Amino acid sequence: MKKILIVNGSKRLKGNSYALEAHIVKQLKGRAEVICLDIAKKDVRPCLACDACKQQHIPNCIQKDDFTALIPEIDNCDAMLLLAPVHWDQLPAQLKAFLDRTYSFMDFTQLDFSMATRKDKKIAAFLCSGFGPVPVYTQMAEANLKLFATAGFRNSMAHVAGDANVPGSIMEKPEELKAADEMVEWLLA
Ligand SMILES: Cc1cc2nc3c(=O)[nH]c(=O)nc-3n(C[C@H](O)[C@H](O)[C@H](O)COP(=O)(O)O)c2cc1C
Repeated sequence: MKKILIVNGSKRLKGNSYALEAHIVKQLKGRAEVICLDIAKKDVRPCLACDACKQQHIPNCIQKDDFTALIPEIDNCDAMLLLAPVHWDQLPAQLKAFLDRTYSFMDFTQLDFSMATRKDKKIAAFLCSGFGPVPVYTQMAEANLKLFATAGFRNSMAHVAGDANVPGSIMEKPEELKAADEMVEWLLA
């Protein structure tokens, strides 16, 4: 059974990313081993840029928080799914902190700069936005997903839902739920 890590970067516990998470976890039941990292409920601190991780040759971080505890799962899962809002045209700060912490997988002595054990993993992002330009946000999401290559995620897929300001409104949009279901199937394939 595939192991899928879901990272939820929203602070709105009754918002759209959480509604999607519940929907997706249900879709995955019995089909994958699922681990959820709900950043709003966890301690994921910003990168200290101390470079202590560059003294080691395994992915590790000297900060002892919920990101560091998850490093082995990030390294060994089959796929990761990011669920988050768009904040000021970008990833929300808490998800950016998560991305920054994958610097602990970077090894400048390797040809591909990566000390990830597995480099064949898939990553997908489903972002919810309110009023902005969805095609621009999709490009932003795709560009951010490329940065997870250092942690071994080299196949990526992004989707952005627009007009999703009202908490939970994503569940009233069949075309967005279809996109989420297709993303799940892609992650499982
Ligand atoms: C601080 C902040 C910044 C936001 N910036 C944008 C933005 O730049 N573009 C946009 O379309 N929506 C923006 N929104 C709206 C959210 O992206 C939207 O409500 C989203 O559906 C929230 O997802 P969630 O319920 O999963 O947290 C912003 C919301 C907040 C709180």
